[in-house]
Amino acid sequence: MAQFDEAGLTAEVIRSFQSTPNPRLKTLVTELVKSLHDYVQRTNLTFEEWNYAIEFLTRTGQTCTPVRQEFILLSDVLGVSMLVDAVNHREREGATETTVLGPFYVGEHKPLPHGSDISLGDPGEPMFVTARVTDLAGKPLKNVRVDVWHADDDGFYDSQKESYATQGPSMRARFTPDDDGRFYFRTILPCSYPIPMDGPVGDLIRASDRHPMRPAHVHFLVEAPGYDPLITHVFIDGDKYLRSDVVFGVKDELIAKVERRTEPKLPDGTPVDRPWHLMSYEFHLKPGEGVAPKPMAAE
Ligand SMILES: [Fe+2]
Repeated sequence: MAQFDEAGLTAEVIRSFQSTPNPRLKTLVTELVKSLHDYVQRTNLTFEEWNYAIEFLTRTGQTCTPVRQEFILLSDVLGVSMLVDAVNHREREGATETTVLGPFYVGEHKPLPHGSDISLGDPGEPMFVTARVTDLAGKPLKNVRVDVWHADDDGFYDSQKESYATQGPSMRARFTPDDDGRFYFRTILPCSYPIPMDGPVGDLIRASDRHPMRPAHVHFLVEAPGYDPLITHVFIDGDKYLRSDVVFGVKDELIAKVERRTEPKLPDGTPVDRPWHLMSYEFHLKPGEGVAPKPMAAE
């Protein structure tokens, strides 16, 4: 039986993958082995730490449910999600900036007509969202799928609440832009929120003395045949966490001035009896063939 020293072991493990038929898989596994071995050596990892890491990853998996994705959250707080986003979007050519998908792209995104109130009457300050989807030359794109989702006035997504099982989705919907590439809907102003802190990722954030907050935002996933899917957020200007997002997801271009308005009617004519907010944004899609992720299916 062969016996290896530290350096020889790494080389032998890499050699054991030499016959991997898929060249990309071979590269990914080889580089993973190199990085993991290097990590163990540079840190002089103890048995206790190694066992903790195994237990931590086990708990991360066990915390996942059909509507909770702790591994995406772990990737997000380690900055891996934004790094994958960065290396895959080096050439934007004027397309709207991208950011993390996040762990709350779940369940049903029900197609709704323009002007629908996606908050389903939940308490909060009214917000009217109007947006347009175009290509890089400004040509409007119709027949596009736009999924939107955001947190409520207390910072929770529908899927985090017990009522989700009986009431279904809220602050989560799908729109199809009109001939001019426009879509609009009513909702409430989302607020900044802490990532879920009751699982292993929360333990990591607490142990590191980091704050758990994300600045207020609305998620958009825009998908059109012949274009790269756009996975992004629109952040609300003025939020105190814009410069310290726990998942590193903020880009300046994605911060929108959300205007406070007092007119008695929303832009679509709906009467409103209190001050409201107007979010406007234009999304520019780049030609491509990328495949957008599908939402995790709720049970
Ligand atoms: Fe979010």
